[in-house]
Amino acid sequence: MDGGRTVDRARTADPGPLLEGRRALVTGGGHGIGRGTCLAFGSHGAAVVVADVDGEAAERTASDVVAAGGAAWAVTADVTDRGAAAATVEAAVDRLGGLDVLVNGVGHYLHPVTPFADVTDDQIAELYEINLGHVLRVTRAALPHLIAAGGPEVAAGTRPGPSIVNLTTVEAFRGIPGHPVYAAFKAAVVQFSKSLALQVSEHGIRVNDIAPDVTRSQQLPYERWLGEEDVARIPSWVPLGRLGEPGDAAGVAVFLASELSAFVTGTTVHCDGGTYAAGGWYRTRHGRGWTNRPHDA
Ligand SMILES: NC(=O)c1ccc[n+]([C@@H]2O[C@H](COP(=O)([O-])OP(=O)(O)OC[C@H]3O[C@@H](n4cnc5c(N)ncnc54)[C@H](O)[C@@H]3O)[C@@H](O)[C@H]2O)c1
Repeated sequence: MDGGRTVDRARTADPGPLLEGRRALVTGGGHGIGRGTCLAFGSHGAAVVVADVDGEAAERTASDVVAAGGAAWAVTADVTDRGAAAATVEAAVDRLGGLDVLVNGVGHYLHPVTPFADVTDDQIAELYEINLGHVLRVTRAALPHLIAAGGPEVAAGTRPGPSIVNLTTVEAFRGIPGHPVYAAFKAAVVQFSKSLALQVSEHGIRVNDIAPDVTRSQQLPYERWLGEEDVARIPSWVPLGRLGEPGDAAGVAVFLASELSAFVTGTTVHCDGGTYAAGGWYRTRHGRGWTNRPHDA
């Protein structure tokens, strides 16, 4: 007995399209996890606006969604530009006719490993803008539209609820030597999501995070960074024995955007092959730095 709810929330054996009729805005959709999310959303029936500072990449993602039979539009936007948040949301709502799902995908650690004493005010400001500022501003601009997509039918279970998905990192939960400011802002995203989840629950809006690690993307080009020895050690480095692909986190985003997660809010799904569960960093044998690769410890 499901209390008369008509939305089928657990067709896990043959889920079919999970996001039919949903209207989604994905920031950072040009590359990596954001791009994977747009492709997965499109294949599950959502109409998607792909927002990215790399306009060509956004266009490529949108046309790939369309080529696969979905509906998508590209918007070129630098979400760290204060004026751009509202403009990006309005552009998305214009094309989609409303908004059910927001994925805040943009984030970066930006600078090479830097001793904290040498981090400049400008770097702190940049790290704030790229990891936290836009999450707050884009979400605030999107909220009236998400509230309009929520309401009593969501509580009654006759309409899917709006969903916000923020990309944080394993390092919001585990330390990262050399990037404490990045880690601090990503941890702030987690706390923002939890508190916002409480505030908007009355509208049936859910807010959750994805915390990736070791996922191949534009900012983590493993082909370039991994030596042969590193590749050979992946099985001891990542408990599930492989690196992640954008589609791994995209699968979590589909889950969090869909009714399969209708009772999930204010929490984080770790998408890291088990690295968070496996624990922390190790100092290198030579004591000159840090590694999370046990063979250097
Ligand atoms: N890849 C991982 O293993 C990993 C680990 C931890 C956290 N993350 C988080 O996941 C998210 C996606 O990361 P990814 O690895 O897929 O990155 P990526 O570099 O492949 O993609 C990021 C996208 O954001 C776009 N972008 C950058 N600055 C922008 C701006 N100012 N305005 C609009 N778009 C902008 C880029 O053009 C790119 O398309 C980020 O928030 C990142 O911090 C990823």
